Amino acid sequence: MPPPPRHVNHDLVPMGCPVHLDDVDLFGEGAQEHWYESYEILHRDAPVLRIEGGGLTDGADAFVLTKHDDVVAVVKDPERFRVVTTLRVDKHVERGLTPEEAYAESRSLMHASMVSLRPTQELYFQHRRELTDPWVGPGALRHREMIAEIAHGLIDEWIDDGEVDFVQGFARPLPQIVMATILGFPREDIGRLAAWGDAAVTPFVHGSGLRHELSAEQAEDMNLRLEGFQDYIDAHVAAKRADPRDDMVSFLCDVRYEALGRKLTDIEIAGIVHAMIIGGLETTQYALVEQAQLLCEDPAAFAELRSDPSRIRSFVEESLRLRAPTHGLSTRVTTRDEVFQGVDVPAGSLLHLRFGAANVDGEEFERPFDLDLDRAALTRHVTFSTGPRVCPGATLSRVEQQVAWATLLERLASIEYGDGNDWLHQPGIMLSTLRVIVRTTPAPTGSADSTPPATHDPA
Ligand code: HEM
Repeated sequence: MPPPPRHVNHDLVPMGCPVHLDDVDLFGEGAQEHWYESYEILHRDAPVLRIEGGGLTDGADAFVLTKHDDVVAVVKDPERFRVVTTLRVDKHVERGLTPEEAYAESRSLMHASMVSLRPTQELYFQHRRELTDPWVGPGALRHREMIAEIAHGLIDEWIDDGEVDFVQGFARPLPQIVMATILGFPREDIGRLAAWGDAAVTPFVHGSGLRHELSAEQAEDMNLRLEGFQDYIDAHVAAKRADPRDDMVSFLCDVRYEALGRKLTDIEIAGIVHAMIIGGLETTQYALVEQAQLLCEDPAAFAELRSDPSRIRSFVEESLRLRAPTHGLSTRVTTRDEVFQGVDVPAGSLLHLRFGAANVDGEEFERPFDLDLDRAALTRHVTFSTGPRVCPGATLSRVEQQVAWATLLERLASIEYGDGNDWLHQPGIMLSTLRVIVRTTPAPTGSADSTPPATHDPA
């Protein structure tokens, strides 16, 4: 199998590139620079990798699943493979805690709101259908014009400079402004919202090992950085209850949640807003950054997309497969003894689902490291997971990426790497290139079709 065609800078990394199974360490310092090389080794030698003592309880092990079939089988069956957050929420529910009490103990707004809004899988569906789908699920299709306007505004800032850090100049602010607009928060607060968003994802960036654990100091620091977030949401909820607008927070203030036959409380709304901020900012940013790199590395693909924007949808799906923003999550626990790829996995084991590896599994995807816009069933990738717990913001993210590239391709005649890139990535479990300097040339006005491609949610 050929080496992954992407820029990496092994020289600057503390960890050496793995050659044998013994060298593979997905979670050590610098590991993120070698993930794709590690996946080749794991697929060949240890598609189910046991991490001794890595489980959630004393003596329990964890297992890293890298095969597409295994990851899909697990996420499709939440009864047999329990979701870790659900297990945590179950404990609050069994003790009869209110959301407020659960928040006081766990300091997690998301868990607190789950105590009342969706303690069961059935309510999970209802929660999603009634509360988030209208804004970030299928309802996100109506945000296309708004997203295009934001994309144009960002491009206007740098298009005449000929060079931009694509992360700071486009990929990071776009989902931030989109999410703030959907929620109904003012644009001038984006700096604060982004800082809270950065704090909220601390475990996924700086957490250690496959359980993303924070030290006591790191946890305290995170909580300090999150201070003010709940007050901020509460203040907006109060304002929108008094003076509703056409935004998601006003909607959440007013909607009657049929599952419970009542409106939502402040803490329930805060939990949903928190989930939108955690899930909806960095992930889409990383997708856009990887897409820019793929196009810098493949000028023919850039030209093809410019001449035929109807291919953008395929490009987005294929790049999501090839460069998944969320490489792995330790989110499931086995409820009974299982066997994956001939490996015994006892009941009570923690499963680390390696979405990034499953997406380049050569048994599922022919020529897995090629960007192939004609690949059959492009949405087979598991970047958003799949099954009943599939990412609830997948449609919004897809629309953002499709509209972003429709707009960029309309405005730019070319994109290539500028000087000063070192292609280093953020630590943690997300694929995030820290800085991508690109040189661009503006397109002659009116040279490409600016119509954002039609979108549907294939998930
Ligand atoms: C490229 C962008 C994104 C990627 C790669 C991504 C990926 C994922 C994955 C892998 C999961 C775990 C699903 C599972 O456990 O089976 C997840 C859950 C989640 N995502 Fe996304 N996501 C993205 C964008 C978004 C956006 C835009 C939002 C919000 C607007 C969002 C909100 C969430 C939430 C709230 C959950 C937790 C759902 C639950 O409680 O089970 N995500 N996402």
